[in-house]
Amino acid sequence: MKQLFIVGSGGFSKQVIEIVEKNNEQKQIYNLVGLVDDDKEKQKSEVLGYKILGTTDFLHEYSKVNKVYGVIAISNTKIRKQLASKLNNVEWINLIHPDAILTKYMKLGKGNVISGGVVINPDCKLGNHCHLNIGTTLGHDVKLSDYVTVMPGSRISGNVHLKRNTLVGTGSTIIQNITINENTMLGAGTVIIKDTERNGLYVGVPGQKIKDLESN
Ligand SMILES: CC(C)(COP(=O)(O)OP(=O)(O)OC[C@H]1O[C@@H](n2cnc3c(N)ncnc32)[C@H](O)[C@@H]1OP(=O)(O)O)[C@@H](O)C(=O)NCCC(=O)NCCS
Repeated sequence: MKQLFIVGSGGFSKQVIEIVEKNNEQKQIYNLVGLVDDDKEKQKSEVLGYKILGTTDFLHEYSKVNKVYGVIAISNTKIRKQLASKLNNVEWINLIHPDAILTKYMKLGKGNVISGGVVINPDCKLGNHCHLNIGTTLGHDVKLSDYVTVMPGSRISGNVHLKRNTLVGTGSTIIQNITINENTMLGAGTVIIKDTERNGLYVGVPGQKIKDLESN
């Protein structure tokens, strides 16, 4: 069995644990060893009965001498990117809830988490370390670059490109043929009908830029 560690022990780690367990019900693939988190106060506590075993420094050292699989359960795109490059000996897995509906005509990088109720249509491409949270739908030909987070219930139409480090807030909608540029954040319920500028925070219907974010 694959020795699996989850990086991050916040709320999303509960979803990730459950996806691991659901996968194991179908075929015993993973031995979920535990979680790691850099928050010193969380050490030795548990999430859904799984222990927080140490910090990411611990996992980094451990993975130098042991074959280790991992998945990052942190929604923040910037932190996910930093940890993926720091933990460069970990073999990142794609974790897919059995109740996601995935076309066979898609490409997937590594380190992605696809939650229950997600629907992905033909000719979609996901890069590395993307999170598609519960109930998100991707139309045909949607492209996600690396480190993209899509929060629950978002509707991404055909031919949309979500460039790297973008975060789509809960229940957002993006119409077809749109490019969401690097490091864009969409607030909950935003409706995007035009391409976005890099490093912008957008909210509203239709979405408007309300501020510039720090470059990521
Ligand atoms: C957009 C967001 C990041 C803004 O957070 P913030 O930087 O702290 O900004 P503020 O809360 O100070 O809001 C700034 C302005 O935008 C408005 N605003 C904030 N979020 C908004 C939203 N989703 N839609 C419309 N307007 C919004 C505020 O009312 C405020 O307007 P004002 O200046 O006229 O008073 C946050 O509100 C949001 O929507 N986050 C996404 C949450 C999410 O999807 N969570 C998923 C959990 S699973």
